[in-house]
Amino acid sequence: MIDFKKIIGEKIAKNVQLDLSEIVSYIEIPPNPEMGDYAFPCFKLAKILKKSPQMIAEELKGKIELDENIEEIKVVSGYLNFYINKLLLTKTVLTEIENSKDTYGSNKSGNGKNVIVEYSSPNIAKPFHIGHLRNTVIGAALYKIYKYLGYNTIGINHLGDYGTQFGKMIEGYKRWAQEYDFKKDPISDCMDIYVRINNLCKEDENVLNACRENFKKIEEGDPYCVEVWNKFKDLSLKEFQKIYDLLGVKFDSLNGEAFYSDKMDEVVDKLEKHGALKDSEGAKIVDLEDKGLGVCIIKKSNGSTIYATRDLAAILYRSRTYDFDKCLYVVAYEQNLHFKQVFEVAKYLDIPEKCLKGLQHVAYGMVRLTTGRMSTREGTVVKVDELLQESIDRVEKIIEEKNPDMQNKKEEAKKIGIGAVIFNNLCSTIIKDQVFDWNTVLNFNGETGPYIQYVYVRTKSVIEKVGNIPDINDVNIELLQDKESQKIISILYNFENILMSVVEKNEPSLLARYLIELSQSYSNFYNENKIIDKDRKIQDARVYLSWAVGKVLKIGSGLLGIEMPDKM
Ligand code: ARG
Repeated sequence: MIDFKKIIGEKIAKNVQLDLSEIVSYIEIPPNPEMGDYAFPCFKLAKILKKSPQMIAEELKGKIELDENIEEIKVVSGYLNFYINKLLLTKTVLTEIENSKDTYGSNKSGNGKNVIVEYSSPNIAKPFHIGHLRNTVIGAALYKIYKYLGYNTIGINHLGDYGTQFGKMIEGYKRWAQEYDFKKDPISDCMDIYVRINNLCKEDENVLNACRENFKKIEEGDPYCVEVWNKFKDLSLKEFQKIYDLLGVKFDSLNGEAFYSDKMDEVVDKLEKHGALKDSEGAKIVDLEDKGLGVCIIKKSNGSTIYATRDLAAILYRSRTYDFDKCLYVVAYEQNLHFKQVFEVAKYLDIPEKCLKGLQHVAYGMVRLTTGRMSTREGTVVKVDELLQESIDRVEKIIEEKNPDMQNKKEEAKKIGIGAVIFNNLCSTIIKDQVFDWNTVLNFNGETGPYIQYVYVRTKSVIEKVGNIPDINDVNIELLQDKESQKIISILYNFENILMSVVEKNEPSLLARYLIELSQSYSNFYNENKIIDKDRKIQDARVYLSWAVGKVLKIGSGLLGIEMPDKM
Protein backbone atom coordinates (compact mmCIF):
# COMPACT_ATOMS: atom_id res chain seq x y z
CA MET A 1 0.00 0.00 0.00
CA ILE A 2 1.19 3.55 -0.62
CA ASP A 3 3.09 4.74 2.44
CA PHE A 4 2.11 8.41 2.61
CA LYS A 5 4.10 9.06 5.74
CA LYS A 6 7.25 7.87 4.07
CA ILE A 7 6.55 9.88 0.93
CA ILE A 8 6.21 13.01 3.04
CA GLY A 9 9.34 12.09 4.96
CA GLU A 10 11.29 11.77 1.72
CA LYS A 11 10.12 15.16 0.55
CA ILE A 12 11.31 16.75 3.77
CA ALA A 13 14.56 14.76 3.78
CA LYS A 14 15.53 16.23 0.41
CA ASN A 15 15.65 19.63 2.05
CA VAL A 16 17.17 19.05 5.47
CA GLN A 17 20.20 17.22 6.81
CA LEU A 18 18.42 14.55 8.81
CA ASP A 19 17.93 10.82 8.52
CA LEU A 20 14.75 9.76 6.77
CA SER A 21 13.82 7.45 9.64
CA GLU A 22 14.24 10.27 12.14
CA ILE A 23 12.10 12.60 10.09
CA VAL A 24 9.41 9.96 9.69
CA SER A 25 9.41 9.36 13.43
CA TYR A 26 8.55 13.06 13.98
CA ILE A 27 5.59 13.05 11.60
CA GLU A 28 2.31 13.18 13.48
CA ILE A 29 -1.32 12.57 12.69
CA PRO A 30 -3.16 15.77 13.64
CA PRO A 31 -6.02 15.48 16.11
CA ASN A 32 -8.58 16.62 13.57
CA PRO A 33 -8.75 16.24 9.80
CA GLU A 34 -9.11 19.99 9.21
CA MET A 35 -5.48 20.27 10.21
CA GLY A 36 -4.42 17.88 7.50
CA ASP A 37 -3.64 14.19 7.37
CA TYR A 38 -0.06 14.47 8.55
CA ALA A 39 1.89 17.18 10.29
CA PHE A 40 5.58 17.83 10.65
CA PRO A 41 6.59 19.83 13.74
CA CYS A 42 9.32 22.16 12.54
CA PHE A 43 10.57 23.00 16.03
CA LYS A 44 12.38 19.66 15.78
CA LEU A 45 14.67 21.40 13.27
CA ALA A 46 14.94 24.76 14.99
CA LYS A 47 18.14 23.89 16.83
CA ILE A 48 20.07 22.56 13.84
CA LEU A 49 18.91 25.25 11.46
CA LYS A 50 19.07 28.04 14.05
CA LYS A 51 15.80 29.53 12.80
CA SER A 52 12.33 29.82 14.19
CA PRO A 53 9.96 26.90 13.52
CA GLN A 54 7.67 29.24 11.63
CA MET A 55 10.45 30.36 9.29
CA ILE A 56 11.56 26.80 8.70
CA ALA A 57 8.01 25.79 7.91
CA GLU A 58 7.57 28.63 5.42
CA GLU A 59 10.85 27.84 3.68
CA LEU A 60 10.17 24.13 3.48
CA LYS A 61 6.72 24.75 2.09
CA GLY A 62 8.30 26.76 -0.72
CA LYS A 63 10.68 23.94 -1.57
CA ILE A 64 8.38 20.96 -1.43
CA GLU A 65 6.56 20.23 -4.64
CA LEU A 66 3.01 19.01 -4.71
CA ASP A 67 2.32 15.87 -6.72
CA GLU A 68 -0.32 13.17 -7.18
CA ASN A 69 0.10 12.13 -3.51
CA ILE A 70 0.05 15.49 -1.78
CA GLU A 71 -2.69 17.95 -2.62
CA GLU A 72 -1.86 20.80 -0.35
CA ILE A 73 0.57 21.97 2.33
CA LYS A 74 -0.28 24.59 4.92
CA VAL A 75 1.89 26.28 7.50
CA VAL A 76 0.25 26.64 10.88
CA SER A 77 2.19 27.83 13.92
CA GLY A 78 5.44 26.11 13.16
CA TYR A 79 3.84 23.00 11.74
CA LEU A 80 3.79 21.85 8.15
CA ASN A 81 0.37 20.33 7.59
CA PHE A 82 0.04 17.92 4.69
CA TYR A 83 -3.21 17.14 2.90
CA ILE A 84 -2.99 13.97 0.94
CA ASN A 85 -4.91 13.17 -2.20
CA LYS A 86 -8.18 11.80 -0.83
CA LEU A 87 -9.23 10.05 -4.02
CA LEU A 88 -5.92 8.29 -4.23
CA LEU A 89 -6.13 7.33 -0.55
CA THR A 90 -9.64 5.95 -0.95
CA LYS A 91 -8.68 3.96 -3.99
CA THR A 92 -5.52 2.64 -2.35
CA VAL A 93 -7.33 1.44 0.77
CA LEU A 94 -10.27 -0.19 -0.97
CA THR A 95 -8.10 -1.89 -3.59
CA GLU A 96 -5.80 -3.22 -0.90
CA ILE A 97 -8.67 -4.66 1.13
CA GLU A 98 -10.19 -6.16 -2.01
CA ASN A 99 -6.92 -7.80 -3.02
CA SER A 100 -5.63 -8.98 0.32
CA LYS A 101 -9.02 -10.10 1.68
CA ASP A 102 -8.43 -12.05 4.90
CA THR A 103 -4.81 -10.98 5.23
CA TYR A 104 -5.36 -7.21 5.12
CA GLY A 105 -2.86 -5.44 7.35
CA SER A 106 -0.50 -8.39 7.59
CA ASN A 107 3.09 -8.08 6.41
CA LYS A 108 6.43 -9.79 6.47
CA SER A 109 8.23 -7.39 8.78
CA GLY A 110 8.89 -10.17 11.27
CA ASN A 111 10.25 -12.69 8.79
CA GLY A 112 13.35 -14.44 10.06
CA LYS A 113 12.73 -13.37 13.65
CA ASN A 114 11.78 -15.74 16.46
CA VAL A 115 9.50 -14.51 19.19
CA ILE A 116 8.56 -16.47 22.27
CA VAL A 117 5.36 -15.40 23.97
CA GLU A 118 5.17 -16.97 27.39
CA TYR A 119 1.68 -16.68 28.78
CA SER A 120 -1.03 -18.13 30.99
CA SER A 121 1.37 -20.17 33.18
CA PRO A 122 -1.03 -21.20 35.96
CA ASN A 123 0.04 -23.33 38.90
CA ILE A 124 -0.74 -27.02 39.16
CA ALA A 125 -3.16 -28.00 41.93
CA LYS A 126 -4.08 -24.34 42.43
CA PRO A 127 -7.00 -22.38 41.03
CA PHE A 128 -6.73 -20.73 37.64
CA HIS A 129 -7.57 -17.24 38.81
CA ILE A 130 -8.82 -14.14 37.14
CA GLY A 131 -5.27 -12.79 36.80
CA HIS A 132 -4.34 -15.88 34.80
CA LEU A 133 -7.35 -15.16 32.62
CA ARG A 134 -6.13 -11.68 31.80
CA ASN A 135 -2.67 -13.05 31.22
CA THR A 136 -3.97 -15.73 28.86
CA VAL A 137 -6.02 -13.26 26.86
CA ILE A 138 -3.16 -10.75 26.51
CA GLY A 139 -0.64 -13.42 25.59
CA ALA A 140 -2.90 -15.07 23.05
CA ALA A 141 -3.53 -11.72 21.34
CA LEU A 142 0.17 -10.87 21.18
CA TYR A 143 0.90 -14.33 19.85
CA LYS A 144 -1.58 -13.93 17.00
CA ILE A 145 -0.51 -10.40 16.10
CA TYR A 146 3.20 -11.24 15.98
CA LYS A 147 2.37 -14.16 13.74
CA TYR A 148 0.26 -11.94 11.48
CA LEU A 149 3.29 -9.73 10.99
CA GLY A 150 5.44 -12.60 9.85
CA TYR A 151 7.30 -13.47 13.03
CA ASN A 152 8.03 -17.07 13.83
CA THR A 153 6.06 -17.20 17.03
CA ILE A 154 6.30 -19.74 19.84
CA GLY A 155 3.64 -19.81 22.54
CA ILE A 156 4.77 -21.31 25.82
CA ASN A 157 2.67 -22.11 28.85
CA HIS A 158 5.27 -22.09 31.63
CA LEU A 159 3.30 -24.23 34.05
CA GLY A 160 3.97 -23.87 37.76
CA ASP A 161 4.42 -27.59 38.24
CA TYR A 162 7.42 -27.77 40.51
CA GLY A 163 8.42 -26.82 44.01
CA THR A 164 8.47 -27.99 47.60
CA GLN A 165 4.69 -27.55 47.92
CA PHE A 166 4.28 -30.75 45.91
CA GLY A 167 6.07 -32.65 48.68
CA LYS A 168 3.32 -31.42 50.96
CA MET A 169 0.56 -32.26 48.52
CA ILE A 170 1.82 -35.82 48.27
CA GLU A 171 1.88 -36.18 52.04
CA GLY A 172 -1.71 -34.93 52.26
CA TYR A 173 -2.77 -37.18 49.43
CA LYS A 174 -1.25 -40.19 51.17
CA ARG A 175 -3.26 -39.43 54.27
CA TRP A 176 -6.64 -38.29 53.00
CA ALA A 177 -7.04 -39.16 49.32
CA GLN A 178 -9.95 -41.51 49.98
CA GLU A 179 -12.01 -38.63 51.39
CA TYR A 180 -12.08 -36.88 48.00
CA ASP A 181 -13.30 -37.92 44.57
CA PHE A 182 -11.16 -35.43 42.54
CA LYS A 183 -13.96 -35.33 39.99
CA LYS A 184 -16.51 -32.60 40.57
CA ASP A 185 -14.03 -29.96 41.60
CA PRO A 186 -10.57 -31.51 41.70
CA ILE A 187 -8.70 -28.26 42.23
CA SER A 188 -10.74 -27.36 45.25
CA ASP A 189 -10.05 -30.86 46.62
CA CYS A 190 -6.35 -30.22 46.12
CA MET A 191 -6.60 -26.86 47.85
CA ASP A 192 -8.38 -28.47 50.75
CA ILE A 193 -5.66 -31.05 51.16
CA TYR A 194 -3.04 -28.34 50.92
CA VAL A 195 -4.59 -26.29 53.69
CA ARG A 196 -4.96 -29.35 55.93
CA ILE A 197 -1.40 -30.54 55.46
CA ASN A 198 -0.01 -27.08 56.05
CA ASN A 199 -1.83 -26.92 59.36
CA LEU A 200 -0.49 -30.30 60.32
CA CYS A 201 3.05 -29.27 59.39
CA LYS A 202 2.78 -26.34 61.78
CA GLU A 203 1.90 -28.70 64.62
CA ASP A 204 4.20 -31.56 63.85
CA GLU A 205 7.83 -31.26 62.77
CA ASN A 206 7.84 -34.92 61.67
CA VAL A 207 5.14 -34.31 59.10
CA LEU A 208 7.08 -31.36 57.71
CA ASN A 209 10.13 -33.57 57.38
CA ALA A 210 8.09 -36.22 55.59
CA CYS A 211 6.95 -33.54 53.13
CA ARG A 212 10.53 -32.48 52.45
CA GLU A 213 11.41 -36.11 51.96
CA ASN A 214 8.60 -36.48 49.42
CA PHE A 215 9.88 -33.59 47.39
CA LYS A 216 13.35 -35.09 47.33
CA LYS A 217 11.76 -38.33 46.18
CA ILE A 218 10.11 -36.57 43.24
CA GLU A 219 13.53 -35.29 42.24
CA GLU A 220 15.00 -38.78 42.56
CA GLY A 221 12.20 -40.30 40.48
CA ASP A 222 10.48 -42.33 43.19
CA PRO A 223 7.58 -44.09 41.39
CA TYR A 224 4.86 -43.38 43.96
CA CYS A 225 5.69 -39.72 44.45
CA VAL A 226 6.05 -39.12 40.73
CA GLU A 227 2.76 -40.89 40.09
CA VAL A 228 0.83 -38.75 42.56
CA TRP A 229 2.54 -35.61 41.32
CA ASN A 230 1.58 -36.52 37.73
CA LYS A 231 -1.96 -37.13 38.86
CA PHE A 232 -2.16 -33.56 40.18
CA LYS A 233 -0.76 -32.34 36.90
CA ASP A 234 -3.23 -34.30 34.80
CA LEU A 235 -6.30 -33.28 36.68
CA SER A 236 -5.22 -29.64 36.78
CA LEU A 237 -4.46 -29.57 33.08
CA LYS A 238 -7.86 -31.05 32.36
CA GLU A 239 -9.48 -28.23 34.32
CA PHE A 240 -7.32 -25.58 32.63
CA GLN A 241 -8.11 -27.07 29.25
CA LYS A 242 -11.81 -26.30 29.74
CA ILE A 243 -10.89 -22.62 29.98
CA TYR A 244 -8.50 -22.75 27.02
CA ASP A 245 -11.22 -24.40 24.95
CA LEU A 246 -13.74 -21.73 25.82
CA LEU A 247 -11.23 -19.02 24.93
CA GLY A 248 -9.94 -20.85 21.86
CA VAL A 249 -6.36 -20.65 23.11
CA LYS A 250 -3.56 -23.03 22.15
CA PHE A 251 0.12 -23.37 23.03
CA ASP A 252 3.12 -24.71 21.18
CA SER A 253 4.79 -25.90 24.36
CA LEU A 254 3.71 -26.79 27.88
CA ASN A 255 7.24 -26.95 29.23
CA GLY A 256 6.83 -25.57 32.70
CA GLU A 257 9.08 -25.31 35.70
CA ALA A 258 9.50 -29.07 36.14
CA PHE A 259 10.96 -29.33 32.67
CA TYR A 260 13.96 -27.37 33.90
CA SER A 261 14.48 -29.30 37.10
CA ASP A 262 17.42 -31.22 35.63
CA LYS A 263 18.81 -28.25 33.71
CA MET A 264 19.88 -26.02 36.55
CA ASP A 265 23.38 -27.27 37.29
CA GLU A 266 24.65 -25.59 34.18
CA VAL A 267 23.23 -22.28 35.39
CA VAL A 268 25.02 -22.66 38.69
CA ASP A 269 28.26 -23.61 36.90
CA LYS A 270 28.13 -20.60 34.64
CA LEU A 271 27.46 -18.22 37.50
CA GLU A 272 30.33 -19.77 39.39
CA LYS A 273 32.66 -19.52 36.41
CA HIS A 274 31.90 -15.82 36.09
CA GLY A 275 32.49 -15.29 39.79
CA ALA A 276 28.93 -14.09 40.20
CA LEU A 277 27.89 -16.53 42.94
CA LYS A 278 28.35 -15.62 46.58
CA ASP A 279 27.76 -17.64 49.72
CA SER A 280 25.33 -16.10 52.12
CA GLU A 281 24.34 -17.97 55.28
CA GLY A 282 24.68 -21.25 53.44
CA ALA A 283 22.68 -20.11 50.44
CA LYS A 284 24.12 -19.25 47.04
CA ILE A 285 23.15 -15.85 45.78
CA VAL A 286 23.93 -13.24 43.16
CA ASP A 287 24.32 -9.88 44.80
CA LEU A 288 22.54 -7.19 42.81
CA GLU A 289 22.53 -4.54 45.55
CA ASP A 290 24.69 -2.18 43.49
CA LYS A 291 21.96 -2.17 40.84
CA GLY A 292 19.30 -1.57 43.47
CA LEU A 293 17.85 -5.02 42.89
CA GLY A 294 18.62 -6.75 46.18
CA VAL A 295 19.91 -10.29 46.01
CA CYS A 296 18.79 -13.09 43.74
CA ILE A 297 18.85 -16.47 45.50
CA ILE A 298 20.02 -19.27 43.24
CA LYS A 299 20.24 -22.11 45.77
CA LYS A 300 18.72 -22.16 49.20
CA SER A 301 20.76 -23.21 52.22
CA ASN A 302 19.27 -26.71 52.01
CA GLY A 303 20.61 -26.99 48.46
CA SER A 304 17.29 -26.76 46.69
CA THR A 305 16.83 -24.47 43.75
CA ILE A 306 14.06 -21.94 43.41
CA TYR A 307 11.69 -20.29 40.95
CA ALA A 308 14.37 -17.88 39.71
CA THR A 309 16.87 -20.67 39.07
CA ARG A 310 14.32 -22.42 36.89
CA ASP A 311 13.67 -19.21 34.98
CA LEU A 312 17.39 -18.88 34.33
CA ALA A 313 17.59 -22.46 33.10
CA ALA A 314 14.62 -21.72 30.85
CA ILE A 315 16.40 -18.71 29.33
CA LEU A 316 19.44 -20.83 28.56
CA TYR A 317 17.33 -23.61 27.08
CA ARG A 318 15.15 -21.27 25.05
CA SER A 319 18.09 -19.33 23.64
CA ARG A 320 19.49 -22.60 22.32
CA THR A 321 16.26 -24.18 21.19
CA TYR A 322 14.57 -21.16 19.65
CA ASP A 323 17.40 -18.66 19.14
CA PHE A 324 14.88 -16.03 20.09
CA ASP A 325 14.94 -12.36 19.10
CA LYS A 326 12.34 -11.63 21.74
CA CYS A 327 11.19 -13.62 24.73
CA LEU A 328 8.12 -11.98 26.22
CA TYR A 329 6.92 -12.83 29.71
CA VAL A 330 3.28 -11.94 30.13
CA VAL A 331 3.19 -11.85 33.93
CA ALA A 332 1.53 -9.57 36.50
CA TYR A 333 3.47 -6.48 37.58
CA GLU A 334 3.84 -7.94 41.06
CA GLN A 335 6.73 -9.92 39.65
CA ASN A 336 8.60 -6.84 38.39
CA LEU A 337 11.51 -7.34 40.76
CA HIS A 338 11.76 -11.04 40.00
CA PHE A 339 12.16 -10.39 36.28
CA LYS A 340 14.55 -7.50 36.77
CA GLN A 341 16.73 -9.82 38.83
CA VAL A 342 16.50 -12.75 36.46
CA PHE A 343 17.31 -10.61 33.40
CA GLU A 344 20.28 -9.11 35.21
CA VAL A 345 21.64 -12.50 36.25
CA ALA A 346 21.04 -13.83 32.71
CA LYS A 347 24.00 -11.67 31.63
CA TYR A 348 26.23 -14.41 33.07
CA LEU A 349 24.70 -17.23 31.02
CA ASP A 350 26.81 -16.66 27.88
CA ILE A 351 23.75 -16.40 25.67
CA PRO A 352 23.85 -14.36 22.44
CA GLU A 353 23.53 -10.62 22.88
CA LYS A 354 20.36 -10.54 20.79
CA CYS A 355 18.64 -13.01 23.16
CA LEU A 356 19.74 -11.07 26.19
CA LYS A 357 18.34 -7.87 24.68
CA GLY A 358 15.13 -9.65 23.72
CA LEU A 359 14.11 -10.59 27.27
CA GLN A 360 11.09 -8.54 28.17
CA HIS A 361 8.58 -8.58 30.99
CA VAL A 362 5.16 -7.63 29.63
CA ALA A 363 3.58 -6.57 32.90
CA TYR A 364 -0.16 -6.20 33.36
CA GLY A 365 -2.39 -4.90 36.13
CA MET A 366 -4.75 -6.63 38.54
CA VAL A 367 -8.36 -7.49 37.87
CA ARG A 368 -10.97 -6.62 40.44
CA LEU A 369 -14.57 -7.76 40.43
CA THR A 370 -17.40 -5.54 41.54
CA THR A 371 -20.70 -7.29 41.18
CA GLY A 372 -22.39 -10.62 40.71
CA ARG A 373 -22.00 -13.89 42.48
CA MET A 374 -18.31 -13.83 41.67
CA SER A 375 -17.68 -10.96 44.03
CA THR A 376 -14.32 -11.26 45.73
CA ARG A 377 -15.80 -9.51 48.76
CA GLU A 378 -17.82 -12.59 49.48
CA GLY A 379 -14.50 -14.31 49.93
CA THR A 380 -15.14 -16.86 47.24
CA VAL A 381 -12.40 -17.72 44.81
CA VAL A 382 -13.40 -16.66 41.34
CA LYS A 383 -13.64 -19.73 39.19
CA VAL A 384 -12.73 -18.64 35.72
CA ASP A 385 -14.61 -21.37 33.87
CA GLU A 386 -17.73 -20.44 35.82
CA LEU A 387 -17.18 -16.77 35.10
CA LEU A 388 -16.95 -17.48 31.37
CA GLN A 389 -20.04 -19.66 31.54
CA GLU A 390 -21.90 -16.97 33.44
CA SER A 391 -21.09 -14.50 30.68
CA ILE A 392 -22.47 -16.88 28.07
CA ASP A 393 -25.61 -17.50 30.17
CA ARG A 394 -26.22 -13.80 30.64
CA VAL A 395 -25.96 -13.20 26.91
CA GLU A 396 -28.30 -16.08 26.23
CA LYS A 397 -30.84 -14.48 28.50
CA ILE A 398 -30.51 -11.14 26.74
CA ILE A 399 -31.00 -12.84 23.37
CA GLU A 400 -34.01 -14.71 24.74
CA GLU A 401 -35.59 -11.39 25.70
CA LYS A 402 -34.68 -9.33 22.66
CA ASN A 403 -34.45 -11.75 19.79
CA PRO A 404 -36.01 -15.09 20.74
CA ASP A 405 -36.27 -16.31 17.13
CA MET A 406 -32.59 -15.96 16.44
CA GLN A 407 -30.88 -18.95 14.86
CA ASN A 408 -28.00 -20.79 16.57
CA LYS A 409 -28.69 -18.94 19.80
CA LYS A 410 -26.29 -21.03 21.84
CA GLU A 411 -23.38 -20.66 19.48
CA GLU A 412 -23.86 -16.94 19.07
CA ALA A 413 -24.24 -16.45 22.81
CA LYS A 414 -20.90 -18.14 23.29
CA LYS A 415 -19.13 -15.88 20.80
CA ILE A 416 -20.65 -12.79 22.38
CA GLY A 417 -20.20 -13.84 26.01
CA ILE A 418 -16.59 -14.92 25.59
CA GLY A 419 -15.80 -12.00 23.28
CA ALA A 420 -17.11 -9.61 25.91
CA VAL A 421 -14.79 -10.97 28.59
CA ILE A 422 -11.80 -11.02 26.27
CA PHE A 423 -12.40 -7.45 25.15
CA ASN A 424 -12.81 -6.25 28.71
CA ASN A 425 -9.36 -7.60 29.50
CA LEU A 426 -7.79 -5.79 26.57
CA CYS A 427 -9.57 -2.48 26.28
CA SER A 428 -7.32 -0.40 28.49
CA THR A 429 -3.56 -0.13 28.74
CA ILE A 430 -2.55 -3.50 30.10
CA ILE A 431 -0.48 -2.17 32.98
CA LYS A 432 -3.61 -0.51 34.39
CA ASP A 433 -5.68 -2.33 36.97
CA GLN A 434 -8.93 -3.52 35.55
CA VAL A 435 -12.40 -3.57 37.02
CA PHE A 436 -14.71 -6.37 36.04
CA ASP A 437 -18.29 -5.21 36.13
CA TRP A 438 -21.00 -7.11 34.28
CA ASN A 439 -22.84 -3.88 33.46
CA THR A 440 -19.84 -2.61 31.54
CA VAL A 441 -18.65 -5.88 30.07
CA LEU A 442 -21.99 -6.70 28.48
CA ASN A 443 -23.11 -3.20 27.55
CA PHE A 444 -24.02 -3.48 23.88
CA ASN A 445 -23.73 0.27 23.42
CA GLY A 446 -20.59 0.90 25.41
CA GLU A 447 -16.97 0.54 24.39
CA THR A 448 -17.18 -3.22 24.54
CA GLY A 449 -16.72 -6.41 22.61
CA PRO A 450 -20.46 -6.81 22.03
CA TYR A 451 -20.60 -3.29 20.59
CA ILE A 452 -17.95 -4.13 18.00
CA GLN A 453 -19.77 -7.36 17.19
CA TYR A 454 -23.02 -5.46 16.88
CA VAL A 455 -21.52 -3.03 14.38
CA TYR A 456 -20.03 -5.93 12.47
CA VAL A 457 -23.42 -7.64 12.24
CA ARG A 458 -24.86 -4.37 11.01
CA THR A 459 -22.36 -4.28 8.12
CA LYS A 460 -23.37 -7.82 7.29
CA SER A 461 -27.05 -7.10 7.29
CA VAL A 462 -26.50 -4.17 4.91
CA ILE A 463 -24.95 -6.60 2.46
CA GLU A 464 -27.72 -9.13 3.03
CA LYS A 465 -30.31 -6.49 2.29
CA VAL A 466 -28.86 -5.64 -1.12
CA GLY A 467 -28.07 -9.25 -1.82
CA ASN A 468 -24.38 -9.07 -2.71
CA ILE A 469 -21.11 -7.22 -2.34
CA PRO A 470 -20.77 -4.76 -5.25
CA ASP A 471 -17.88 -5.26 -7.64
CA ILE A 472 -15.04 -2.90 -6.78
CA ASN A 473 -15.00 -1.74 -10.41
CA ASP A 474 -18.53 -0.46 -9.96
CA VAL A 475 -17.55 1.61 -6.95
CA ASN A 476 -17.19 5.30 -7.74
CA ILE A 477 -14.77 6.54 -5.10
CA GLU A 478 -15.81 10.12 -5.70
CA LEU A 479 -19.00 9.23 -3.89
CA LEU A 480 -17.05 8.43 -0.75
CA GLN A 481 -15.55 11.86 -0.18
CA ASP A 482 -17.94 13.00 2.56
CA LYS A 483 -16.61 13.56 6.07
CA GLU A 484 -17.90 10.30 7.59
CA SER A 485 -16.68 8.10 4.76
CA GLN A 486 -13.28 9.74 4.78
CA LYS A 487 -12.94 9.23 8.50
CA ILE A 488 -13.50 5.52 7.97
CA ILE A 489 -11.06 5.41 5.06
CA SER A 490 -8.30 6.98 7.11
CA ILE A 491 -8.90 4.53 9.97
CA LEU A 492 -8.86 1.58 7.60
CA TYR A 493 -5.65 2.90 6.10
CA ASN A 494 -4.09 2.94 9.54
CA PHE A 495 -4.76 -0.72 10.41
CA GLU A 496 -1.32 -2.09 9.60
CA ASN A 497 0.32 0.78 11.46
CA ILE A 498 -1.67 -0.06 14.56
CA LEU A 499 -0.60 -3.69 14.38
CA MET A 500 3.01 -2.56 14.08
CA SER A 501 2.66 -0.41 17.19
CA VAL A 502 1.06 -3.29 19.08
CA VAL A 503 4.22 -5.37 18.66
CA GLU A 504 6.52 -2.42 19.13
CA LYS A 505 4.94 -1.64 22.52
CA ASN A 506 3.51 -5.08 23.34
CA GLU A 507 0.23 -3.33 23.89
CA PRO A 508 -2.79 -5.15 22.40
CA SER A 509 -5.09 -2.48 23.84
CA LEU A 510 -4.03 -0.27 20.91
CA LEU A 511 -5.86 -2.65 18.60
CA ALA A 512 -8.85 -2.86 20.95
CA ARG A 513 -9.15 0.95 20.97
CA TYR A 514 -8.71 1.02 17.21
CA LEU A 515 -11.65 -1.35 16.74
CA ILE A 516 -13.82 0.83 18.95
CA GLU A 517 -12.89 3.89 16.90
CA LEU A 518 -13.65 2.09 13.66
CA SER A 519 -16.99 0.87 15.02
CA GLN A 520 -17.97 4.33 16.22
CA SER A 521 -17.01 5.87 12.90
CA TYR A 522 -19.12 3.33 11.09
CA SER A 523 -22.07 4.08 13.37
CA ASN A 524 -21.70 7.77 12.50
CA PHE A 525 -21.49 6.99 8.83
CA TYR A 526 -24.55 4.76 9.11
CA ASN A 527 -26.54 7.44 10.91
CA GLU A 528 -25.52 10.24 8.57
CA ASN A 529 -25.87 8.44 5.27
CA LYS A 530 -28.64 6.50 3.63
CA ILE A 531 -26.96 3.33 2.57
CA ILE A 532 -29.78 1.67 0.73
CA ASP A 533 -30.37 4.44 -1.77
CA LYS A 534 -32.43 5.03 -4.91
CA ASP A 535 -29.22 6.08 -6.58
CA ARG A 536 -27.57 2.77 -7.34
CA LYS A 537 -24.11 4.34 -7.66
CA ILE A 538 -24.30 5.83 -4.20
CA GLN A 539 -25.63 2.60 -2.80
CA ASP A 540 -22.82 0.53 -4.34
CA ALA A 541 -20.15 2.80 -2.92
CA ARG A 542 -21.63 2.80 0.58
CA VAL A 543 -22.33 -0.92 0.65
CA TYR A 544 -18.81 -1.59 -0.49
CA LEU A 545 -17.41 0.59 2.27
CA SER A 546 -19.61 -1.29 4.76
CA TRP A 547 -18.18 -4.55 3.55
CA ALA A 548 -14.63 -3.23 3.97
CA VAL A 549 -15.38 -2.10 7.53
CA GLY A 550 -16.85 -5.52 8.37
CA LYS A 551 -13.79 -7.20 6.95
CA VAL A 552 -11.37 -5.21 9.08
CA LEU A 553 -13.53 -5.51 12.21
CA LYS A 554 -13.51 -9.26 11.79
CA ILE A 555 -9.78 -9.54 11.15
CA GLY A 556 -8.92 -7.20 14.01
CA SER A 557 -11.23 -8.88 16.49
CA GLY A 558 -9.93 -12.27 15.42
CA LEU A 559 -6.42 -11.12 16.26
CA LEU A 560 -7.63 -10.31 19.77
CA GLY A 561 -9.23 -13.76 20.03
CA ILE A 562 -12.81 -12.54 19.53
CA GLU A 563 -15.08 -14.34 17.11
CA MET A 564 -17.82 -12.58 15.20
CA PRO A 565 -21.45 -13.69 15.43
CA ASP A 566 -23.56 -13.87 12.28
CA LYS A 567 -26.59 -12.41 13.97
CA MET A 568 -27.20 -10.38 17.05
N1 ARG B 1 3.15 -19.61 37.67
C1 ARG B 1 3.39 -18.24 38.00
C2 ARG B 1 2.17 -17.64 38.70
O1 ARG B 1 1.07 -18.12 38.55
C3 ARG B 1 3.71 -17.41 36.81
C4 ARG B 1 4.90 -17.86 36.00
C5 ARG B 1 5.47 -16.76 35.21
N2 ARG B 1 6.51 -17.12 34.32
C6 ARG B 1 7.78 -17.25 34.63
N3 ARG B 1 8.61 -17.61 33.70
N4 ARG B 1 8.23 -17.03 35.83
O2 ARG B 1 2.30 -16.65 39.38
